[in-house]
Amino acid sequence: MGLTFGHLDQKNQMNNVIITGANGFLGKSLLTHLADFKISSVKLFDIHPFQEDPALPINYQQHVLDLADPRLINQINTGDTVIHLAWRSNPSVTGEDIDAEMKLNWDASKNLIDACAEKEAKLIFISSGGTVYGRPEYLPIDEIHPTNPVSAYGAVKLKVEKAVKEASVKTGMQYVILRPSNLYGPGFSLKKGLGVIGHWVDMIRQNQPIKMVGKGELVRDFIHISDLCRGILSSLDLENETFNIGSGRGTSLNDLRLVFEKLIKRPLDIIHLEDREFDVKTNVLSIDKISRLTKWYPEISLEQGVNRLLDSN
Ligand SMILES: NC(=O)c1ccc[n+]([C@@H]2O[C@H](COP(=O)([O-])OP(=O)(O)OC[C@H]3O[C@@H](n4cnc5c(N)ncnc54)[C@H](O)[C@@H]3O)[C@@H](O)[C@H]2O)c1
Repeated sequence: MGLTFGHLDQKNQMNNVIITGANGFLGKSLLTHLADFKISSVKLFDIHPFQEDPALPINYQQHVLDLADPRLINQINTGDTVIHLAWRSNPSVTGEDIDAEMKLNWDASKNLIDACAEKEAKLIFISSGGTVYGRPEYLPIDEIHPTNPVSAYGAVKLKVEKAVKEASVKTGMQYVILRPSNLYGPGFSLKKGLGVIGHWVDMIRQNQPIKMVGKGELVRDFIHISDLCRGILSSLDLENETFNIGSGRGTSLNDLRLVFEKLIKRPLDIIHLEDREFDVKTNVLSIDKISRLTKWYPEISLEQGVNRLLDSN
């Protein structure tokens, strides 16, 4: 396990907030929002080293480690709040292969849950509102909707949610489970096939045709990464509850196409791909519960968010 410091010497560390998977798409964005929530010091856990960033307005201590490592427990203290983002897949990586998804993600999350339970740390688990519910029985989907995931990714996210709740019942560990919808925004990683909006922006930049699954009828709830980060940080004081976090609005891929075409002022060149078994047709989340309890609301409209992406380099 490696350890490096950013901005601050060791003896001044408070270290009561930990972010796992801090080097990922969401983690890097979350770091830029911490100061707005009066969090000035964090520990970052990731298997990949985080590039030192002198512009970050916070003090951080970096631990390069695999969360499955049994020594993880030594890095967590009583009273810490652990925001757990680390995950090694997305739905298209493992499809319906539960064994593959378990191999990639279970040991790390289970080891972290056990460590938090033993050290009496609070665990904020970032699950997936887009996949744990499966095919919707009604819309928008609220937190008491049945959970019948069709992807292996969704099934293992749900298994981790259950393990978090069991640990809480057994040991009193505090937790918050957040179920985000489809995420987009600056910093998306194309190599990992993350997100339709990221793919479209990149193809437009390269003057390439866009690949669209199905005929454009899939409906998704797109949340801008900045809104999600504010939502995560607004939820840290909640206790032992599960929350959806999204825009609360459904957008079909055909409607998304219209948003893009309006902004770039020309028709998109589209290649239609076969439907995939593990894609539910519609996913729109109710965000009433988190909005009621935290006063958090998404602030960036889809058109604004896409426009910002198209305008950035
Ligand atoms: N991107 C989305 O659309 C979306 C939507 C809903 C939920 N989520 C969830 O949000 C979280 C963050 O997503 P992201 O898009 O930033 O993912 P990402 O792949 O960009 O980042 C994940 C990070 O976790 C790290 N990691 C993975 N396994 C690890 C381990 N065992 N030990 C230490 N570090 C490990 C990786 O190195 C990576 O830096 C994930 O849990 C993901 O499932 C993402």
